[in-house]
Amino acid sequence: MEKSIQEYQDKINRVLITEEEIKEKVKEAGKLIDGLYDGRPILLVSILKGAFVFMADVCRAVSVPCEIGFMCAKSYYAGTESVGAVKITMDLEQDISGYHVVIVEDIIDTGRTLKDVVNLLKARNPLSLHVLTLLDKPSRRVVEFTADWTLFTIPDHFVIGYGLDCAEYYRNLPYVAEYAEG
Ligand code: IMP
Ligand code: MG
Repeated sequence: MEKSIQEYQDKINRVLITEEEIKEKVKEAGKLIDGLYDGRPILLVSILKGAFVFMADVCRAVSVPCEIGFMCAKSYYAGTESVGAVKITMDLEQDISGYHVVIVEDIIDTGRTLKDVVNLLKARNPLSLHVLTLLDKPSRRVVEFTADWTLFTIPDHFVIGYGLDCAEYYRNLPYVAEYAEG
């Protein structure tokens, strides 16, 4: 449904994480990845669509040789509530058995998406598998899941921007903001 510009802007409640704060943390994440792999090549795997902005920044923050790959996983939503099923709608083109893999994710909410994706990728025997997430909402967890690296832990509020959407809008905001529900 078409929104008026006023309606669109009114839903951006307040900026939660600024562009500068994200930049700083992404730089740190690049150093952590460089430190762990110590010159060995890696494959960064991002889960579309939400992680596409984060992926673009993370891949430019690492110095080890790196390939990138994309998967599309959809968790189904009723409004802003996850309803359970996770479906892989586009898979990686790489055979990951020869790779050190780092999953680059936008946010961990119920934990269902990453739990499924990690199980799927582990079964393909990568050399190693780690998970980097921009955001984590631990209070929302339905299945147990902890990332290896979390850049920001946030409270239970629906967020938009920096790749994250509400009904496909707001992905292009350069910061992370609270969405005004209702
Ligand atoms: P999970 O499977 O519930 O952990 O959530 C997986 C996906 O739901 C994330 O990768 C996001 O795409 C989406 N999601 C969860 N919380 C939010 C939010 O606050 N804003 C936008 N998307 C979200
Ligand atoms: Mg996502």
